[in-house]
Amino acid sequence: MSSLPNTMKGVLVCKEGGPEVLEYRTDLPVPSPKECEVLVKNSVIGINYIDTYFRTGLYKAPKPEILGKDGAGKIASLGPGVTGFVENDPVVWMHTGGYAEYTVAPAERTAKIPKEISEEDACAAVLQGLTALSLIDEAHKVNAGDWVLVTAASGGVGGWLCQLLRARGAHTIATVGSQAKVNDARKLGAEKVVVEQEVGDEGVKQVVQEKTGGRGVVAVFDSIGKITFDRSLECVARKGTLVSYGNSSGAVEPFSISRLAAKNVKVTRPTLFNYIYTREEFEQYLDELWRLMTKEKFTVRIHQKYPLAEVAQAHRDLESRKTMGKLLMVP
Ligand SMILES: NC(=O)c1ccc[n+]([C@@H]2O[C@H](COP(=O)([O-])OP(=O)(O)OC[C@H]3O[C@@H](n4cnc5c(N)ncnc54)[C@H](OP(=O)(O)O)[C@@H]3O)[C@@H](O)[C@H]2O)c1
Repeated sequence: MSSLPNTMKGVLVCKEGGPEVLEYRTDLPVPSPKECEVLVKNSVIGINYIDTYFRTGLYKAPKPEILGKDGAGKIASLGPGVTGFVENDPVVWMHTGGYAEYTVAPAERTAKIPKEISEEDACAAVLQGLTALSLIDEAHKVNAGDWVLVTAASGGVGGWLCQLLRARGAHTIATVGSQAKVNDARKLGAEKVVVEQEVGDEGVKQVVQEKTGGRGVVAVFDSIGKITFDRSLECVARKGTLVSYGNSSGAVEPFSISRLAAKNVKVTRPTLFNYIYTREEFEQYLDELWRLMTKEKFTVRIHQKYPLAEVAQAHRDLESRKTMGKLLMVP
């Protein structure tokens, strides 16, 4: 883009706290890409649950900080040494600094969007879709016929997990927080949907026992963390895996490793960015995600698009457990 402005709209976090610390500004400096980086003019910005952890201080980062791990838009300029992109290419990126009109991202973590996919869908799919894909392939390789338990099944990552597990021929028991989400989880592929608030932990365990003939599930994909860890451990079958990949209710407390011996259970606490560390891994997973979206007609679920200025409301909605699918913002 030949002429770039000096300032941009964006959201700054200067101190840890509730949604009120998200400061909408119109005077932030437009960043410049350095070696091997690109500048993207975002048409759409993703919100992920992790953004709330950096806002509250559960995860630490220097402040002031611009939150936001994914976005899509057009290449606005290229830093020195960048090849493979030209200005105006439609791209999706995963990095930090998303809550703004312009974001600098490493070229390595930026990818062109196939023609058949909109910038909006690419942004909505990239981080949550790749997380789900890597979890069922690497955190615990799920096979056809396996019974698994997925928490927050109508959420962003949870929704992708349900669709992927159905496509793989696995059987999903899903938990959701309210009746309003039951049909959504079912449509996405869950065979049995349990409303946590109605049945409690004992009810979830009972359904797992019934569905698996008392054996337990071969894997639990637990995004809730602190309050569900013990229950998840009890739901896993002998030699199964507890994949604890999120902290929506807070961080899991330390526990005694000897508890795992009761069933020879594996516990893993993975992050997406250690599965797609290299460019090769990023491209390989992205190719599969684009294929699922274009050829297998996977559903990209967008809960709502908010104006960037309404970022605090978007965080409130996400944390109040009423969202289904991805939250996006428009700068
Ligand atoms: N490890 C990784 O690399 C990685 C990558 C992406 C996301 N994640 C994690 O995956 C989880 C899901 O992320 P997402 O962005 O897709 O969000 P999301 O699942 O769309 O939203 C969070 C959902 O968590 C459920 N939840 C249960 N207990 C909750 C509580 N005490 N407070 C708030 N929510 C609660 C709610 O669903 P119900 O009401 O239906 O239970 C809520 O809708 C997050 O924990 C996130 O940190 C991890």
